[in-house]
Amino acid sequence: MDIYNYLKKDHQKVADLMEQVIASKDPAERQSLFETIKMELTLHADTEEQTFYKAIEDATRSKQVEEKIEHANHEHDEIREYLEKLSTTPVTDELWLETFGEFKHSVTHHVEEEEGEIFEKAKKYLSSQEAKDLAKEMDALKKQSQVQSKVPADAMG
Ligand SMILES: [Fe+2]
Ligand SMILES: [Fe+2]
Repeated sequence: MDIYNYLKKDHQKVADLMEQVIASKDPAERQSLFETIKMELTLHADTEEQTFYKAIEDATRSKQVEEKIEHANHEHDEIREYLEKLSTTPVTDELWLETFGEFKHSVTHHVEEEEGEIFEKAKKYLSSQEAKDLAKEMDALKKQSQVQSKVPADAMG
């Protein structure tokens, strides 16, 4: 698998989970689906920046490409802010679903741009071998971060 298919699979997973949140009538279920989305998306954005975006930046000196990556990073930050807002608003609050709608819109928009413009640039600058290596790298980084986040706080001191 190359990085493009790897990322698409992640995007699809989150898109499905977001649809399930919208369809759900049960606040507890909604909450638990949201927790999964938050975990998946945070891990995705963090490791995507550290592998895929970084590789594109390293491979080019194009101002136009740099600006696209910068824009994508801003969208990641916007998504992180929505995740924070949704975490601190009770899931039963009217505002929650409204905010979730905005969040979903923001994620969908970002994914469209990423799978469109960013993939197009990446394919121009990264070899197919690099694209395969990046999928492995991102996957390894995710697994590493998951292990770290599972270590209880009191075991760290
Ligand atoms: Fe992505
Ligand atoms: Fe992204």
